[in-house]
Amino acid sequence: MKVTAFNGSARKDSNTAIMLNVALEELNKQGIETGLYQLAGKQIRGCIACYKCMENKDQRCAVKKDVANECIEKMLASDGILLGSPTYFADVSTEMKALIDRAGLVSRANDDMFKRKVGAAVVVARRGGSVHAFDSMNHFFLIGQMIIPGSNYWNMGFGLNTGDVEKDTEAMDTMKVLGENMGWLIKKLHC
Ligand SMILES: Cc1cc2nc3c(=O)[nH]c(=O)nc-3n(C[C@H](O)[C@H](O)[C@H](O)COP(=O)(O)O)c2cc1C
Repeated sequence: MKVTAFNGSARKDSNTAIMLNVALEELNKQGIETGLYQLAGKQIRGCIACYKCMENKDQRCAVKKDVANECIEKMLASDGILLGSPTYFADVSTEMKALIDRAGLVSRANDDMFKRKVGAAVVVARRGGSVHAFDSMNHFFLIGQMIIPGSNYWNMGFGLNTGDVEKDTEAMDTMKVLGENMGWLIKKLHC
């Protein structure tokens, strides 16, 4: 069993990564293999709407020039997918939106290829707009027939500079509970 977390922040090892890692640690404790894939510094552009994926139906994006297919392969190889993003102008980062559009259309072209995998969204904000970003990522899971576990609050943390989110103890607890629930659900689905 494996969970891969995707960090859509433009900053590597940032607040979003800190949040994701707390959930991943809990999954590790349950014996689930984990991986963190950070989009920072990598090339990923938005969907060009060529619709070749609808013709090819090969579980890959027809645009091979960036990391989209690497991410798609990691998603396919995982039982659970965590999408994490900072809040940028009350929505997800450009990198996260590109990943959602690219992986999402390929999934739709291939009979919802992430169907019944477990998915959860994690957001960081300095102050406002995080609920909208949270919703944006949950739409990826919901349209793709994926299953979303909850936590004991919305999966969000607050902070501006890298490391600030560690002082948000409620967010740290929310991530811990999210990891516990995600692991519990994945195990139930596979027994
Ligand atoms: C382009 C840009 C837009 C931002 N927009 C918002 C916003 O709408 N609301 C907010 O609360 N914080 C906003 N922030 C602050 C980030 O969400 C915050 O610094 C967060 O901790 C970044 O996460 P990271 O450390 O994972 O990069 C913005 C930051 C940037 C760079």
